[in-house]
Amino acid sequence: MFDPESYRREIEEAVSVIREQLSANPGIGIILGTGLGGLVDEMEIEKEIPYQQIPHFPVSTVESHSGKLIIGYLAGKYVIAMQGRFHYYEGYSMQQITFPVRVMRRLGVQRLLISNAAGGMNPQFRKGDLMLISDHINLLGTNPLIGQNLDELGPRFPDMSEPYAERLIDLAEEVALQQQIKVQKGVFIAVTGPSLETRAEYRFLRATGADAVGMSTVPEVIVGVHMGMEILGISVITDECFPDALKAVNVEEIIATANKTQPKLTTIMREVIRKL
Ligand code: HPA
Repeated sequence: MFDPESYRREIEEAVSVIREQLSANPGIGIILGTGLGGLVDEMEIEKEIPYQQIPHFPVSTVESHSGKLIIGYLAGKYVIAMQGRFHYYEGYSMQQITFPVRVMRRLGVQRLLISNAAGGMNPQFRKGDLMLISDHINLLGTNPLIGQNLDELGPRFPDMSEPYAERLIDLAEEVALQQQIKVQKGVFIAVTGPSLETRAEYRFLRATGADAVGMSTVPEVIVGVHMGMEILGISVITDECFPDALKAVNVEEIIATANKTQPKLTTIMREVIRKL
């Protein structure tokens, strides 16, 4: 059972270990998705903290995620980036998956930039496109806020009318235009995975109004909104999920496409951060 008292204490213990190693207050947090850790190459790195060294931090089990906090300067701003995130399919609880977001907020992070690899269902989308997330659908069958609410962290029934800040979406579109990078915009739907979807499931997911599907992001966004963060979400479309022309994919291809698309994502994130 979720024990709110221990959760609160665990958050504070992680915060104090990280805070000792910071030279300033990070106002911006970044979560890098599968195959998308390359943004840190653009950082002037001050400190790297492997997740194993942070009390109560889950340790990521997916090989494509290296699992550390990277702290330093990006486009002149002091940021804290998670290279490697946690997925529900790895067997963690919703509270564990979102623990780092709680910790980042307590460290002073107000703006959160999140990336993920996603399957494109909108027939206009192509492999290698970027999609600014305008809204989401939580199809995980659970919610990270279930259990006793910690009122000092956020409200019992957080508003979800604008989980992805319009202001940040506008900024990202402005940057994309300036940098001549094509971006799509659409609704992201989260499923648990780890199995990819059947054709019938893609048909169903598309009919819900979703444009892209993935196995992450939504829990972190819900917790970010709970704590009052301003959020920008960007999906990298790593495969085309068109039910009537579906081809088999494997995770290696998904990661290869994510890697190839990284430079566009990195440019947008970096330039948005510059303008914040
Ligand atoms: N479903 C389908 N394709 C994907 C996914 C997913 O969850 N993530 C990345 N590509």
